[in-house]
Formats: sequence, structure tokens, C-alpha cells
Amino acid sequence: MTQTDQLNPAPLDQNAAARRTTVKLVGGAVLLTGCAPMMQPMMKADMPAAAPPASTAAATLAAFPAVGSTVFLQQAGKGVVIARIEAAQAGAATSGDLHLIALSDRCTHLGCGVQAAASGSGYSCPCHGSAFTLTGDVVNGPAARPLDRLAIRIEGQNVFVG
Ligand code: FES
Repeated sequence: MTQTDQLNPAPLDQNAAARRTTVKLVGGAVLLTGCAPMMQPMMKADMPAAAPPASTAAATLAAFPAVGSTVFLQQAGKGVVIARIEAAQAGAATSGDLHLIALSDRCTHLGCGVQAAASGSGYSCPCHGSAFTLTGDVVNGPAARPLDRLAIRIEGQNVFVG
């Protein structure tokens, strides 16, 4: 190699440069595609979990003999309360004269689980004393908003939540 060759190197083969770029792009795409299934759980971690539609009945209609009857249960790791209410309303499930609603059992103050109120109607929170009506509206704070409503449906004698 002469001194002139070192100062003026041979021009790059443009086809070779294009091939290297193509290989890098394809390799990157393959790497991303391969990692996508592993990254999916990480991406979902920050998203609120939606309750999966129930495939098994949460209760049967027989569990609600009168207005005010409630059933507390766990579904997909979340506390749920189903209550028989006086009349049909938005979000309620109806079968004849029986109307049911489903609520999250999480108090909207700081998230403690509510219980059936000692008064016999509605719910109370053991943590700081919030009280809610049978339909989840706030009677006493510190909770400032109603219990969260959940989807509910009746199929035959079975009640499904979610
Ligand atoms: S968490 Fe229910 S009143 Fe505070």
C-alpha cells in the first residue's frame, strides 16, 4: 500500500453499505418482535385491571329473598357485593320484580372493605366510619363518592358479575 492509497482509500462499495443497513433494520425488527411477548406483561402492569367477564355464577336468585338482601363475595381477587334493591335503575339487573345491583366492596375513601351496616341497610366502612346506602351512595364521609358499580346480569336463576 502506498502513501497515496492511505490518503485516498478506495471508495466504499455502496451496495455493501446498503446491505449492512438492511441487515441492521431486519435484525432490529426481529429483535423487537421477539421481545414483544416478554414486554407485554410489563406494559400491562401500569394499566388498571378490568374484571374479566364471569363465566361462573356469583350467586343465585334464591340468595335475595327480600329487598336489602346482600351477598358479599370474592371474584377474580376483588371484593364484590350484590344487593337486592327496591326498584329498577340504571345498571341494575332485573328478573320480574327482583332488581339487583353489584358494587365493589372497596370504600372510596382509602380502599378498606365495607361491611353490611349494623343498621341493617347499606354498608359501613370499619376504617374511618364512612357509610353508604344499599345502592352505594355516601351517607357519611370521609368517603366523598359512591361505591363503584359493577356490571351485573341475570341468566335464568343465576347471577353473573363482570
Ligand atoms: S377507608 Fe373507608 S372510611 Fe376510610
